[in-house]
Amino acid sequence: MAEQLGDLTRTHTCGALRPEDVGADAVLLGWVHRVRDLGGLLFVDIRDRAGITQIVFDKDDEALMAKAKRLRSEFVIGAAGHVRRRSAETVNPKLPTGEVEIVVRRLVLLNEAKTPPFTIADETPVSEDVRLKYRYLDLRRAQLQANMGLRHRVTMVIRRYFDAHGFWEIETPILTKSTPEGARDYLVPSRVHPGEFYALPQSPQLFKQILMIGGVDRYVQICRCFRDEDLRADRQPEFTQVDVEMSFARPETIFGMIEPLMREVFAVIGREIATPFQRMAYADAMARYGSDKPDLRPGMPIQDIRELFRASSFRVFRDIVANGGTVRGFVVPDAAGYSGTEVRALEDEAKSLGATGLVWARRAADGAITSSVMKALGEPAVAQLLEATGVQPGGLLLVVAGEPDTASKLLGQLRLNVARRKGLLKPDDYAFAWVVDFPLLAWDAGEQRYVSMHHPFTSPHEDDIGRLEAEPAEVRAKAYDLVLNGSEIGGGSIRIHDADLQRQIFSLLNISADEAKLRFGFFLDALEYGTPPHGGIALGLDRLCAILTGESSIREVIAFPKTAAAVDPMSDAPSPVDPKQLRELHLAIKR
Ligand code: AMO
Repeated sequence: MAEQLGDLTRTHTCGALRPEDVGADAVLLGWVHRVRDLGGLLFVDIRDRAGITQIVFDKDDEALMAKAKRLRSEFVIGAAGHVRRRSAETVNPKLPTGEVEIVVRRLVLLNEAKTPPFTIADETPVSEDVRLKYRYLDLRRAQLQANMGLRHRVTMVIRRYFDAHGFWEIETPILTKSTPEGARDYLVPSRVHPGEFYALPQSPQLFKQILMIGGVDRYVQICRCFRDEDLRADRQPEFTQVDVEMSFARPETIFGMIEPLMREVFAVIGREIATPFQRMAYADAMARYGSDKPDLRPGMPIQDIRELFRASSFRVFRDIVANGGTVRGFVVPDAAGYSGTEVRALEDEAKSLGATGLVWARRAADGAITSSVMKALGEPAVAQLLEATGVQPGGLLLVVAGEPDTASKLLGQLRLNVARRKGLLKPDDYAFAWVVDFPLLAWDAGEQRYVSMHHPFTSPHEDDIGRLEAEPAEVRAKAYDLVLNGSEIGGGSIRIHDADLQRQIFSLLNISADEAKLRFGFFLDALEYGTPPHGGIALGLDRLCAILTGESSIREVIAFPKTAAAVDPMSDAPSPVDPKQLRELHLAIKR
């Protein structure tokens, strides 16, 4: 039977007591972490959010001892007693409270607990489904406690930072009209308007722009966004953005606001990061790293070595170059010693990524040169190739030829795999970059039309506006992504603030005037009433926190995440609803 709290008042958390407190009376409230029964003495570790303290029961008090013997892991207890110094041999240097213990005089059994499906007190791996089903138990474990605490501190730093810089935090609607960001909407049927739907926001994009039109000048919101898209380790159907918008902003205004914020955020984990961040054009990121979110930690950029093969004796590559293809490669330092098996594994890997073949050349530690195309190229040409690509003794050059985009993407993937295996992707190295100069539009072959790379409200680069009609694919956007360790942790742009230009973009996207009016009419109207130039960004708070905690999935920094199948195993959402609810919403389920 659970006892009541009564007059029991916590005097200290379970992480607070130190040798200075010896002799004091203390009341601790928390969970039974571990029990050790030594016959004459019973030791219990009591745990709360702040830590663990050892409490001791002495056999002299028989009634108390009998009660204490009933304690099991995860029972909720209150313990009152006095603080005593532990004997030298029982000091636990791993615990901040490890020099003291409480000799218990009064024990209150506030609640019992069933035997948990996994141990809270250790780090034994547990399947994610079980962890999510019993998330309340998982949340008691040290790792999630640390992650939740860190996320809170990061959120507070962000709020204080924006407040200090004159931003207003403003809430935008959750029941809204769809603003497309490229994913599917979650829809909410309206009861009072049969057949009509709200959409949950994929982001507050249009609302934050309208706030600029509304004279708010500087807006921030830590907001939930909803996107019905395929899930991955870094994607959840609902996730949190730090959403920012500023009037009269240039890209530099946004960078200048976000970089110092990142410094403050990383100070939370005791890390000093260097600003300003590197800026890299989208085209360079694609060419040198095969990705628009390059992981810059391992170095090893992809090099274009096409010119070396234009007149080469190696016919395969020469023909590829002659036909407009490319030859690209990257250098892996300290890899010349790879065994034949390791090199063949790399070749297989390249093929499985889509390469027709992988050529390699290396300079052994003693300077000796070998290559998979030694015969075809001849030693002088291989030496020249190693020289031109900067291969040091011990270095291995990996080369692929083919269509430029494909070759770079494939090498980008291979580069990351190699870097991972070589331990070059250290979780506590932080490599930031702004990727800039994205193309405004991308051709969607399926739909046979242009789509926005970022979103339709992104401004074209001033210098390129004149090319919108004639060569739309060449137009650069005033868009930027913030990339950290190969993860896109933020994205934003300077917006179109001119209604005519906005209409022109809609029409380039094959959105007819009628459709634009239907979907965005309210916004097009608003644009006509004195819209200031403006721009902003949204940071992915979950992704940022995952990197700060060294986690490989954002599910580890979200209290109640969904599985890869978009399910919450704890509450069992989504689930069928009562037929009455459906009728009220004018809905019928078609099976
Ligand atoms: P974007 O779509 O790039 O931009 O989103 C901004 C950032 O949000 C994070 N993010 C996600 N995190 C977890 N799960 C997801 N499903 C998910 N989708 C996106 C990423 C991303 O960089 N309205 C624009 C912002 C703007 O233009 O100001 C927007 O939403 O870290």
